[in-house]
Amino acid sequence: MAGRASNAESSSASTRRRFLKRVGQGAVTGGVASSLLGQGGLTAKEPSQGKVAHRTLGKTGLDVSEIGFGGHSWAYKKVPTREGGYRKVNIDEAVEMISAGMDMGVNFFDSCTPLDESSTPGEALKRLKARDRAIVSIRVSHKCKGVENDKQEIYKWTEERLKLWQTDYVDLCLLCNTENDTPQSGYWDMSYSMEALDKLKQQGKIRFTGFGCHFTPELFLQAIDKYGDYFDIVSIPYNVRHRAAETVLPAAKKKQMGVITIKPFARGSLLKKKDLEGDDAGLPRDMVSFVLENKQVDICTCGVHTIDQVKENFSASWTKLTPAARDRLQIAAATSCGGHRWLEEGWLYA
Ligand SMILES: NC(=O)c1ccc[n+]([C@@H]2O[C@H](COP(=O)([O-])OP(=O)(O)OC[C@H]3O[C@@H](n4cnc5c(N)ncnc54)[C@H](OP(=O)(O)O)[C@@H]3O)[C@@H](O)[C@H]2O)c1
Repeated sequence: MAGRASNAESSSASTRRRFLKRVGQGAVTGGVASSLLGQGGLTAKEPSQGKVAHRTLGKTGLDVSEIGFGGHSWAYKKVPTREGGYRKVNIDEAVEMISAGMDMGVNFFDSCTPLDESSTPGEALKRLKARDRAIVSIRVSHKCKGVENDKQEIYKWTEERLKLWQTDYVDLCLLCNTENDTPQSGYWDMSYSMEALDKLKQQGKIRFTGFGCHFTPELFLQAIDKYGDYFDIVSIPYNVRHRAAETVLPAAKKKQMGVITIKPFARGSLLKKKDLEGDDAGLPRDMVSFVLENKQVDICTCGVHTIDQVKENFSASWTKLTPAARDRLQIAAATSCGGHRWLEEGWLYA
């Protein structure tokens, strides 16, 4: 008995030390840090006393959590297996992660093009009976060529995703293209796309529309200028290294568009080679806090693959950056992110 107690005490002391190290880099606002510490047993893995703040998603008027679940969370094989490989997050894990996020007030769910990004959270929300508490966003991939077939493509992608999300409607439908679909390929003729989106709205299958692509900031500015009155949302990369969004967001806000940022960690590249259990503990949280400091951002979506990542990343909402945390972010921002050419070439701070 005595042995068990002393093991528990030393484990509690060690997690407490880790927590102190983490919060040492970023101050928790509103006295939450001291109240957590005052209760002895709470660690950075249990920040659920905090609530993720909400913002208004531009002209949609939707009340959204300022941090959202990224769709890639469910699509990529990132969970280590006993055999030394990797697998995707399973449904039970997704239920646990989503439930923890919703307890913190998170209500936004992004989903990109892979099917799991809709099917996994769709099934999890069904099990949690939580669809009516969620804002669901889908991305439909098409080339916006300005040909009649654009419409069929949008209908097909939307119907497929409604089934996977196990729902009659989604809140947002975003047009999504690759870096190869430039205006030269006819991208900016969205006439048929808008016709299709209008019909889906009339049918009650989608509520609001937007676009978000792997484009350059200049192309985003053109799109906002030309189509910002029609579309409600723009979705754009933004993190401590890739800050060119700061040159685009004012134009989006002028049109009252909602702003959803992606890639707060540059798909994890900014965290590579960091000692996240030691000196760099809390760095991912601080990277999200950095994005949230920009009040032109409405939602920062981030990829999460474990319950610990859920708790850490969402705690950014109540964490204020200290001077020491800012210094550490500046160092991280200087790291080149190979493998993400479109980000590195187009989105570095202008
Ligand atoms: N086409 C589009 O419009 C488009 C494109 C890209 C992204 N998006 C959206 O934006 C969302 C966010 O972007 P993203 O997922 O590409 O990249 P991200 O959020 O910048 O990075 C996600 C990666 O960061 C790592 N990570 C996250 N939290 C961590 C933590 N607390 N500690 C350690 N590592 C952590 C994870 O790596 P490990 O897996 O190694 O743990 C994860 O794979 C996506 O999920 C998607 O919804 C849309």
